[in-house]
This record gives sequence, C-alpha cells and structure tokens, in this order.
Amino acid sequence: MINERRPEDMQRITNAELADRYIAEQIQKLQEQIGDKKVLLALSGGVDSSVVAALLIKAVGRQLVCVHVNHGLLRKGEPEQVIEVFQNRMNANLIYVDASDRFLDRLSGVSDPEEKRKIIGGEFIQVFAEEAHKLDGIEFLAQGTIWPDILESEAGIKAHHNAGGLPEDLQFELVEPVRILFKDEVRVVGERLGLPPEMVYRQPFPGPGLGVRCPGAITRDRLEAVRESDAILREEFKKNGLEGKVWQYFTVVPDFKSTGVKDGKRTFDWCCIIRAINTTDVMEVTVEHLPDQLIDHLVSRIVTEVPGINRVLFDYTPKPPATVEFE
Ligand code: XMP
Repeated sequence: MINERRPEDMQRITNAELADRYIAEQIQKLQEQIGDKKVLLALSGGVDSSVVAALLIKAVGRQLVCVHVNHGLLRKGEPEQVIEVFQNRMNANLIYVDASDRFLDRLSGVSDPEEKRKIIGGEFIQVFAEEAHKLDGIEFLAQGTIWPDILESEAGIKAHHNAGGLPEDLQFELVEPVRILFKDEVRVVGERLGLPPEMVYRQPFPGPGLGVRCPGAITRDRLEAVRESDAILREEFKKNGLEGKVWQYFTVVPDFKSTGVKDGKRTFDWCCIIRAINTTDVMEVTVEHLPDQLIDHLVSRIVTEVPGINRVLFDYTPKPPATVEFE
C-alpha cells in the first residue's frame, strides 16, 4: 500500500509468532501489488534493505532484481557476504557492480567532508541509474524505508533520503514492505526470514562508509589501513562478547604521521584511533571503556598486522562535544 501508516494500536513485533504473521501478510500484499512485474532494489547489505530483499524473494522470487553497488568504502567482507547470502543461499537475481575505482577516482584529492559525502551520494545514484537503464520491464522500486524515517522527515529532523534522487525517466511505483516497522521489529522479522545474525544485528554503518573514517582526501593505502584495522576491531569485539552489546565501534586513520621505531629502524607512519560508543538516540553518546587487556591486544595486533600504522590511540570523548564520526 502506498503511503501506508502504522496503525496507532499496532502491537510491537517482539517475537517469532508476531514476525511470522507480519511476514505472511506482507508476502500476500507484495504478490497482490506486484503481480508478474519486476521490482528493482538497491541492496546495500544493511539491515533494512536486506530484510526488504528477503521478503521480496519470498514473495516474488527472481522478479526482484537486486543491485549491490560496491563503492569501495565498504567494510572487509561485506560485498562477499551479500553475494553469499543473497545469490548463493537465497538464489536472488543479484547484479553486483564493483564501482570501487570509479568512486575512489572521483574522490581523489577531495578533502572537504561534505563534498566527499556529495560525491559518494551522487555517484551512487548514477551507478544505480545506469544499471536500471540496462534492465527491461521494471515497474517497481523497493526501498528499506522504516517508520522512524517517516516520523523524522515529517518532524523536519532529517530529509527522508531513501526516496527520490533517481532521474525523471526512472520514476517507479514504490514498494516499501518494512515502512511501518521500527528498527527492532525489522531485526526480528529479518531473523525469521533466515538472514544471518551478523547481518540482522549489525552495528549502524554510515552510507558514505569508510570514507568518513579516512578523514581528508582519501588515499587507497590509508583506506586499506582503515579497512584492515576495522576488521581486527570487529573480530576482537566478537571474540570478547562485545558484539551486539556496544552500539558502534570502529577505527579511524587520520592523515597525520608520527615517528616510531620497528626492528631498530625509524618509521614515520599513521596512527589508528579506536572509537567505541553507546547511545540510544545518537544525539548524545557515552564512551565504552574497554578492558586494559583487550586494549593491549588490539594495539599489538593493529601495529603488527596493519601496514602503515605505528601508533594506536583511543578516543575518550563523548558526544557532545565530539560527534560519533570524525567528519
Ligand atoms: P554523528 O557523527 O553525526 O553520527 O554523531 C551519528 C550517527 O549517524 C551516523 N552517520 C551517518 N550515517 N550517512 C549515514 O548514513 C552519513 O553521512 C552519516 N554520518 C554519520 C554515524 O555512524 C552515527 O551512527
């Protein structure tokens, strides 16, 4: 249903039974809306678009065309996970576009944070539109809009950027099967649809991806240092039972070098900053203090395993005054 609103008395979906009922209702609605037509979806691998994909695969199978754009700023293993879960396990009709070079070339030498965001967002729409133009017979565009997106855009807090952005000749009818759900409900539904827990319960990840964690002009080597250190941090959080408990945790590698020493020789390399925070609404955040032993282990792994890093720092600053991301 277009512009559907969450009924005031709708019961919060908190368990398998309620999720199963929602899934069954949505499958029926989606089949009625879509019939034998084709639906297009930009599948980022985030919770919302993944749940939308899984619902649509159940409802219309390969009439759903998923486009996964790798902008080169994804975390280690993310594109592979999207391909494994959707193409291999769910037999989705998935188009994988590796546009890393294109994005990184466009971003080369650009240091202004907002300019970087604009380039990433604009390029994303272009790549997606190019793929859409290659397809025939698409009538619907699926989106992972959720209920807080609608509430926030109505309250004027943030523009609801899920919609729009596509060129005039690519205006499709919208399909929004998680539109009336809150995030926690989307996760319960995702679990019942058989998505892996690490996908359903993953921490928030910004649209511009690792681009905002490589402050200033992005270079491929520094971006790689962000990606590798982030992978180590995530692995250690998982091993130490912190995954799913800490709201958001990541590494940042600023464009700044300092002196170090390795094997008796002078080094001049970057530092890696670890940030781990908790919050309920991201307006205010507190810092998660890590056990000393874990910090020591992280420092040791990062300086040993990540090329270009000779120093590890920890960010103890809450929000305000610092924002979560560095830019
Ligand atoms: P800040 O840095 O504003 O972050 O304190 C608050 C939350 O928003 C995420 N964030 C973004 N998400 N596009 C996104 O989709 C962005 O440009 C962006 N900037 C920040 C950030 O990761 C945190 O969860």
